[in-house]
Amino acid sequence: MNFSIALLPGDGVGPEVVAEGVKVLEAVGSRFGHNFRYEESLVGGIAIDTTGVALPLETLSNAESSDAVMFGAVGGPKWDDPKAKVRPEDGILQIRKALKLFANLRPVKIYPQLEAASPLKPEILQGVDLVVIRELTGGLYYGKPKRRWSTPGGKRRGVDTMAYTEQEIRRVLRVGFELALLRRKRLASVDKANVLESSRLWREIAQEMEKDYPSVTVEHALVDTVAMQLIRNPARFDVIVTENTFGDILTDEAAVLSGSMGMLASASLAETPQPGKPAFGLYEPIHGTAPDIAGQGIANPLAMILSVAMMLRLSLGLENEAQSVESAVEGVLADGYRTQDIAAQDSVAVTTTEMGSKVVGMLSG
Ligand code: IPM
Ligand code: MG
Repeated sequence: MNFSIALLPGDGVGPEVVAEGVKVLEAVGSRFGHNFRYEESLVGGIAIDTTGVALPLETLSNAESSDAVMFGAVGGPKWDDPKAKVRPEDGILQIRKALKLFANLRPVKIYPQLEAASPLKPEILQGVDLVVIRELTGGLYYGKPKRRWSTPGGKRRGVDTMAYTEQEIRRVLRVGFELALLRRKRLASVDKANVLESSRLWREIAQEMEKDYPSVTVEHALVDTVAMQLIRNPARFDVIVTENTFGDILTDEAAVLSGSMGMLASASLAETPQPGKPAFGLYEPIHGTAPDIAGQGIANPLAMILSVAMMLRLSLGLENEAQSVESAVEGVLADGYRTQDIAAQDSVAVTTTEMGSKVVGMLSG
């Protein structure tokens, strides 16, 4: 089959890991007889430097006309001035909104070979296999008013707004329920209903929807408690669904379980994914631009490669191909190859491109 993929490498290690993702996709193409066409566009800091904006219109139309988007990362010290009018992060925030990518799936899986890379004790990591669904186009990130000003007395003030509509809450909860049905049928709906109005609405709707999913065991949990349980007893979770900011914070925390941010993939979807019914999506590693190691060729490309596997499964409807990429990654880890972020005793140190080539070798071999 033929597919068109929009490539938005962005800043920092983004281009380095996207290149490895493409390499792996090409290997999938030759093994399974698919043809991928790529169109690359600017986003983030590099787009600001070249065009003055973080998400040029051309980039958006490239993404819109593709079957799926591969996204690297945006941001960096060069563009970090708090007074700046445009910010690289606007690139990802605007594209999520423009493409209506309301559901962000971030799976956390423990590879037994990587247990040593996590600061947590191995017995805590035993059996961890969860996915966080983060609401991605609402809440504090987008709510209005959102501004800064000075009072007549010269005191500075700032405001952000956490607002949700019923429809926004319902559609992302639905992704949670449907995914739970395909997994271990446990759903944790995470809110701060003891304090926030938007959370009380969230919980009310989750409780209404529960009735339509009698086979799913639902727990309604407070975000602070979940933050604690995620490191104390993470294996108790199957699917976690939560609003934008809570999901942003909890997924960085959850990344620690897997040993490295360099292992965590993500999919941002515009529809509820259903088996046999591909949904449009954007695929990005959650590690960000990692400015401290950018340009050195040492970034871990596995999060991007695992994001490519999610793309094959969720947006291109290629389940076998997705599984082949996931097993190739497992095979490479089992053979002891490690980028420096997941290095362990007796492991074989590899660079970004070597890691990509190892996965390609495993896929083609
Ligand atoms: C993420 C990142 C982004 C976010 C930033 C880069 C705007 O932290 O994808 O988790 O906050 O959503
Ligand atoms: Mg984040």
